[in-house]
Amino acid sequence: MSYLQGQIAVVTGSGSGIGKAVAEALCQQGAHVCIVDLDATRAAEVVEQFKAKGLRAADYALDVSNSRRVSEFFTSVEETYGKLDILVNCAGYAATSLLDEMDDEAWTRMLSVHADGSFYCLREAAKIMKKHHYGRVVNISSLAAESGMYGHVHYTAAKYAIVGLTEVAAKELGPFHITVNAIKPGIIRTPLGEQGLLANGVGERFERVTPIQRIGEPKDIARTAAFLVHPESDFITGTSIVVDGGFILMNEMDTVVCESLRQV
Ligand SMILES: NC(=O)c1ccc[n+]([C@@H]2O[C@H](COP(=O)([O-])OP(=O)(O)OC[C@H]3O[C@@H](n4cnc5c(N)ncnc54)[C@H](O)[C@@H]3O)[C@@H](O)[C@H]2O)c1
Repeated sequence: MSYLQGQIAVVTGSGSGIGKAVAEALCQQGAHVCIVDLDATRAAEVVEQFKAKGLRAADYALDVSNSRRVSEFFTSVEETYGKLDILVNCAGYAATSLLDEMDDEAWTRMLSVHADGSFYCLREAAKIMKKHHYGRVVNISSLAAESGMYGHVHYTAAKYAIVGLTEVAAKELGPFHITVNAIKPGIIRTPLGEQGLLANGVGERFERVTPIQRIGEPKDIARTAAFLVHPESDFITGTSIVVDGGFILMNEMDTVVCESLRQV
């Protein structure tokens, strides 16, 4: 039997990429998923695609960095569905800039979408979940919060903030049977990935230095999220799971030795 039958889930940023794949995985396990995205058209298209596959979902346009709108949205979720079982905080974007060239606006916007947005959604979801003594929360962080990423000081700070948020929430919400975990994806083939780290044809180079020898796919993150939100994943909380095919393990020495051995 589908293990999320009858459950209600909110997945932010599910108009594209990782969020969309997570939403589909949860739908396939029987959850009714609220497809939440800044881009209303994308969210509506995802719902149409899911419905064509017989999956249950509804679309909502929301900027997660707007505290008042987030609060109104979760109130409407509670009014419509009577409960909330799952929240996946996935909305986000990436940008590059050297730190001494970054303006205040770029810094503030990045922190406000990733850190503020995850906090606002988690806070409002927690209010509903606590009433029902059940919940599963997954926050999408990044490998940038494993070791800060060059040219991404605002993104790195925001993704570390998500890890901090995850740890404190896990402590406070654990007594209510609410688990809170983070995923740190490596390089994943999505519109964000293609426009960022995978631009300029460097994908092959990343594949070569990744032990699993490929770029990640959205389904790699979706499967991890689907595992974390399983009702029986009830003793895993406050942790951050790296999903990167082993990429972060490799250092420059490994790469040099590996390349010289493969030439032999
Ligand atoms: N792709 C990667 O390599 C990678 C690696 C590590 C972490 N991540 C993280 O995964 C998450 C999803 O990224 P993706 O690669 O699927 O990107 P994506 O661009 O395919 O999807 C991101 C979605 O978030 C939405 N969004 C952006 N700002 C929003 C806001 N303020 N409110 C609501 N929705 C908003 C966008 O409209 C978009 O549909 C992001 O948090 C990203 O930082 C991605």
